[in-house]
Amino acid sequence: MVTVDLGAYGEDFVADPYPYYAELRARGPVHHVRTRLGNDVWLVVGHAEARAALADPRLSKSPATAGFTMLDEQIVGPYLLVVDPPDHTRLRALVAREFTGRRVAALRPRIERITRELIDAMDGPERSADLVAALAFPLPITVIGELLGVPAADRDRFRAWSTEIVAPTGADPERAAVHALAAYLDDLIEDKRRAGPGDDLLSALLRTRAEDGDRLSVAELRAMAYLLLIAGHETTVNLVANGMRALLSHPDQLAALRADPGLLEGAVEEMLRYDGPVETGTARFALEPVELGGTVVPQGAAVLVGIAAGDRDPARFDAPDRFDIRRDTGGHLAFGHGIHYCLGAPLARLEGRIAVRALLERFPSLALDPSAGPLDWLPGLLMRGVRRLPVRW
Ligand code: HEM
Repeated sequence: MVTVDLGAYGEDFVADPYPYYAELRARGPVHHVRTRLGNDVWLVVGHAEARAALADPRLSKSPATAGFTMLDEQIVGPYLLVVDPPDHTRLRALVAREFTGRRVAALRPRIERITRELIDAMDGPERSADLVAALAFPLPITVIGELLGVPAADRDRFRAWSTEIVAPTGADPERAAVHALAAYLDDLIEDKRRAGPGDDLLSALLRTRAEDGDRLSVAELRAMAYLLLIAGHETTVNLVANGMRALLSHPDQLAALRADPGLLEGAVEEMLRYDGPVETGTARFALEPVELGGTVVPQGAAVLVGIAAGDRDPARFDAPDRFDIRRDTGGHLAFGHGIHYCLGAPLARLEGRIAVRALLERFPSLALDPSAGPLDWLPGLLMRGVRRLPVRW
C-alpha cells in the first residue's frame, strides 16, 4: 500500500490543492494519505466514489465505532456530524423544520437589510476593504446569531474560537477554543433558561427539552448550538469570499453576470462547485471492510471524502477547472450528500445570492486588490478559504 504524504506538498497545496487532487485522481479515485498533522486516512478524490461514500451506511459518522474520540465531541457533546441513526434522525428532526426552504425564504427581507447596512458601512472614501471583515463574515454570523438568539455584542468574541476549531493552528489552541466556546454556550443557555423563553431557536430547543426532557440532553442541546453556530457561518463566509474571488478573477464571467442578473443562481452554484467552502467532508469510519472504487478500506479506518476533489472530476464535469457560470452544476457535492446533507443549504444559498448581487449592484468597478500582498489561506483539509480578501473599487 502506498501512502501519500500530503504534508510534503507544503504550502502550495494549502493555497491551491486542485492540481494535486487532479494528479491523485489520475492515479485512482481512493488513496491512503497522511495529513499534515500526521493522521492516516483514506481520501476519496473521484466524484462518483465521493458521492457513494457520503451516502454509505457502512461508513459511520460516530468516531467511537472505530475507537476514536473527537476532541470537541468529548468536550461539547454529541452533534449531528458525529452520530448515526437513530440518534442522528432524532436530533436532526428537532431542528430540520427551522431550516426548510419556506422558513428560510421568510428571512429574505432581514438578510437583505443586514447586507445593505454592511455594504453602506464598507462604502467609504478609501474605496477599498477586506471583503471578509466587511461582509462575508458579519453577514452569516449576524443571521445565524439572530436565529439562535446570540447577543450581537458577543459575536466577535467567538469568531476567533470557531475559526480555530474549523481550521486548527495546533492541538493546544484548538482545545482551548473548544473549551471557551463550550463555556460560552453553557452561560448563554443558562441565561436563556433564567430569563424565560424568547422566540429564538435556542429557546425553542430549550422548550423541547423542558417539555420532553429525555429527548434532548443538556449535552445534546449545547452540541446542537455549537454545530449550528459554527456551521452557520464558517462555511458561508467562504462561499462569499471564494466565490467573489473566482468571479473577480474571471472578467468574462463577471461581465456576463453583470449583463444578465438572471444568471445569479447558476453563478452561485458554480462558485460552490468550483471553489466551495468545504474541501473534504467531516470524518467517516469504516464499520467493516468497504470497497470504494476498487480499493478496500479496512474496518476501523477513517475516510475523508474529497468534496473539492470530486467537484473537479472531469468524469463528472467537462473542463472542470474552468469557472463557467452557465454550466450545469447538477450533482455538485458542496453541501454533501445523503443523510448528513447540509441542513443550512437553503439559508447559505439565499445569503450567497443576496451578498453577490448586492456587491455587484453597489460597486460597478469592484476588483481584487493584489497590492495587499499574498493571501492567507486557512490551514487543514476541512475548510477552503482565506482569512482576508482585499478588494477595491
Ligand atoms: C455555503 C455554505 C455551506 C456549505 C458549503 C456547507 C456544507 C456542508 C457540508 C458539506 C455538510 C456535510 C458534511 C459531511 O457530511 O461530512 C454540511 C452539514 C451541515 N451543515 Fe452546512 N454548509 C453551509 C452552510 C450551512 C449553514 C448556513 C448552516 C446553518 C444553519 C449549516 C448547517 C449544517 C449542519 C447542521 C450540518 C450537519 C447535518 C447533519 O449531520 O445531518 N450549514 N454542511
